[in-house]
Amino acid sequence: MSDIAKLQIGENTYEFPLIQGTENETAIDIKTLRAVSNGVVTIDPGFKNTGSCQSAITFLDGEKGILRYRGYSIEELAEKADFLEVAYLLIFGDLPTKAQLDKFYNDILDNAIVDDDIKKIIDAFPKNAHPMGVLSSLTSSLTAFNPSSVNVDSEEDMYNAIVKIMGKFPVLVAWTMRKLNGLPLHYGSRKLGYVENVMKMMFEKPNEEYDINPIVKNALDKLLILHADHEQNCSTSTVRIVGSSHAGLFASISAGISALWGPLHGGANQAVLEMLEAIKKDGGDTKKYMGKAKDKEDPFRLMGFGHRVYKNFDPRAKIIKVAADEVLGDLGVQDPVLDIAKGLEQEALNDAYFVDRKLYPNVDFYSGIIYRAMGIPVEMFTVMFALGRLPGWIAQWKEMRLRKEPIGRPRQIYSGENYRPFVPLDKR
Ligand code: ACO
Repeated sequence: MSDIAKLQIGENTYEFPLIQGTENETAIDIKTLRAVSNGVVTIDPGFKNTGSCQSAITFLDGEKGILRYRGYSIEELAEKADFLEVAYLLIFGDLPTKAQLDKFYNDILDNAIVDDDIKKIIDAFPKNAHPMGVLSSLTSSLTAFNPSSVNVDSEEDMYNAIVKIMGKFPVLVAWTMRKLNGLPLHYGSRKLGYVENVMKMMFEKPNEEYDINPIVKNALDKLLILHADHEQNCSTSTVRIVGSSHAGLFASISAGISALWGPLHGGANQAVLEMLEAIKKDGGDTKKYMGKAKDKEDPFRLMGFGHRVYKNFDPRAKIIKVAADEVLGDLGVQDPVLDIAKGLEQEALNDAYFVDRKLYPNVDFYSGIIYRAMGIPVEMFTVMFALGRLPGWIAQWKEMRLRKEPIGRPRQIYSGENYRPFVPLDKR
């Protein structure tokens, strides 16, 4: 294949270099288009064909259902690694040695205390505030309490900001849930691993010892790993674009949390469970809801189905489906919505509408069922997604800053009024 793309506009032909990725993906490098063509730009709403950056973090092939972090397959990582190792891998590029992992975790623990005044902010939220709004605000407020983390001029500054957010974020996640459940806020224990500590901080009751259930711990580790990065999705692109203005890491991540909140993105895990509950309440008639999903006059969509890039299957959904069976089986939970979910999946897999549009269950179709079995409230599901995605957001932000990417500032095609003279108020 030639390494040049030619574009003809009117009489003129322009040549642009092709860029090849390490997995043979090809892009046309149009950086010079506007300058050489006298103002022509490309337009691609939703960025369905547009690469925003080159990245060495995550590779995914939507057609083949492949997902790899730094070259390692998601299947192998979910089976053999723990969440902290995967976080290190994403952020620093390689799996850590034992010494590297210990140092990383010690630095995280040294930075895990949040300013006690943050409790006053939490107090001020209404009890029924959505946890994603609370989490986004608390993450943003970390900037005020840690002003030195904003200006990142060296890799050392960067590292300090990273261990701070890795340490404080799980505390904010746990406190968000404790606020929702009316429990007193507290810290876990330095003696526990990253995920065990999150569990202790989230679930421990003031009047009883909290024992870590290894089955729940393993499932949570797996869920967090599966959510840890997914290249240039909506929230990650938000983190990169906010960070590209050199806003600090915490502000960039707070913006990513807001982007993740939407039901078309991370908010889908909450929406899936609410949908399954509604179907159950309505008599469990999955066919009726399949019909609604296919009806173009009906705004209903089958939540947890479809994905912008996976057009074959979502490899994370496969792993999560097995994990859901294991966790519910091991905990002895009989959840009728799991049967409804399996029924919907079977019908969709055999339905021409879904098959033709390549709509398969995505990562969020089964995750909510596991979270619910763990005792996590529905409104917290997207917060759990954010906890998992944190290392991915950090890695992408770090890469963007180290590569000295320019500020993100898309162009547009203006389609409004042409010039018109101002009309005074009494003449309108
Ligand atoms: N239920 C019914 N129909 C659907 C669904 C669905 N869940 N998803 C897509 N379609 C249909 C669309 O109506 C469209 O049909 P048409 O071609 O006849 O007009 C076709 O499939 C293509 O859909 P688009 O919306 O164009 O696909 P896009 O790539 O823009 O959207 C998205 C992907 C947002 C994930 C979409 O499939 C969706 O809304 N799914 C439900 C929400 C969800 O589960 N989101 C989580 C995604 S995973 C994540 O963020 C972690």
